Amino acid sequence: MPLLITNGRIVTATDDYEADIYCADETITRIERSIDPATVPPEAEWIDAAGRYVFPGFIDPHVHVHLPFRGTHARDTWVSISRAALVGGTTTLIEMICPTRDDDLMEAFHLWTGKAAGVAACDYSFHMGVPRFDHGAAAQLREIADSGISSFKVFLAYKGALGVDDEELYRTLKLATEVGAIVTAHCENETLVAERQRELVSAGRTGPQWHEPSRPVQVEAEGVHHLMTFARLAGAAVYVVHTSCEPAVLVAQRARERGARVWIESVIPHLVLDRTCAERENFDGAKYIMSPPLREARHPAFLWDALRSRVISTVATDHAPFDFAGQKEMGRPPRGDFTDIPNGIPSVEHRVDLLYTHGVVAGRIDLNTFVDCASTQAARLFGLEGKGSIAVGYDADLVVYDGDHRWTVSGEDHHMATDHSVFEGWRLRGRASVVTVRGKVMVRDGRFVGELGGGRLLRRAAVH
Ligand code: URP
Ligand code: ZN
Ligand code: ZN
Repeated sequence: MPLLITNGRIVTATDDYEADIYCADETITRIERSIDPATVPPEAEWIDAAGRYVFPGFIDPHVHVHLPFRGTHARDTWVSISRAALVGGTTTLIEMICPTRDDDLMEAFHLWTGKAAGVAACDYSFHMGVPRFDHGAAAQLREIADSGISSFKVFLAYKGALGVDDEELYRTLKLATEVGAIVTAHCENETLVAERQRELVSAGRTGPQWHEPSRPVQVEAEGVHHLMTFARLAGAAVYVVHTSCEPAVLVAQRARERGARVWIESVIPHLVLDRTCAERENFDGAKYIMSPPLREARHPAFLWDALRSRVISTVATDHAPFDFAGQKEMGRPPRGDFTDIPNGIPSVEHRVDLLYTHGVVAGRIDLNTFVDCASTQAARLFGLEGKGSIAVGYDADLVVYDGDHRWTVSGEDHHMATDHSVFEGWRLRGRASVVTVRGKVMVRDGRFVGELGGGRLLRRAAVH
């Protein structure tokens, strides 16, 4: 059905103006100061956006849906994550495909993509995980890249399971350069993590509060430095995921100044939470375990500054949805320790509103930066053509946003499949009033009103 949105304040990464938008055949076909309703078909759906912003659909370029961990699995499906993402204003997701060393890459690719096909309500794509690099893997990666998956994912951490060794890293980067793909990377020095975990656990330091000391900022900065060396020599474009601290950002920034093609991602938990959360009583700290860990409060402050100056390009979530009961609890002493806690903080539903509240309302970033880091940069870096902005010819992925709406996060009515949200009870400002995906209304006032299964696997251009 055609769609007319009138009287909105359109905000993109570069512009801010009032106009009406008309959409037909899934795309934006007219943007004019005032569109005469007599000039659009009578069946067009009409949304009055007076007093509201109109943003491009937000993009989360780093989520996990299907994520095995020691015999258990992350809780979301593409049904629950689609609803959660859309209610939160996110219209496109990119999931990490995370095979282990023993998995066949093509089988993993079909396993992960198959879980979204015919089910997802938002548009989606994948970063192809590379846990091993040999002749067979190289051929499969070429084929996967040719099918429109123009980014790979490597773990410098988790060696022997998800992580690659140095020879494999170099060869993956070379292949990516050849096919125009960008390599996303989790940067932590695995040897240091393993040694420090062993020392801490054998000293009886087993609670969640010891997770951060097991992988301090130097461990992450060393990982980024390692990636920078390899990326420069291979000539590869790289994207450092979930950068949590000043030293890691500075290493990437300096490498960029010396010619490295590197972009930096931060994730919402690292911006709005700090390491004291992992000290909470009754094992509640386990909810805050992710890697790299939440840091001392001066690091979030640094990240906000780096976002404002656009040293950091994107704000994603690294949504990794494990329950507290039965999953995070796997690491409860004395039966377990912090190394047994599945890593991840579910946040896909609240990223945009947290960024608006703690970024825009708090005066840390302006509206254009908000749109740029939560939508436009992801579209640009990952070849999502027609996404990430509002212009004629672009997909009609739009968020009519009420910046004055005040509300409190409640686990009772969230759409994520997890049994908790770490943002439970948080007071937020701003919420999507209407969310559309290619012209179809999917959300109204916090309620999912769309249909499942219409989400599209996006064929992404190899822009690097
Ligand atoms: O703690 C995290 N980040 N969990 C998800 C897996 C990953 O490393 O991205
Ligand atoms: Zn990671
Ligand atoms: Zn991740």
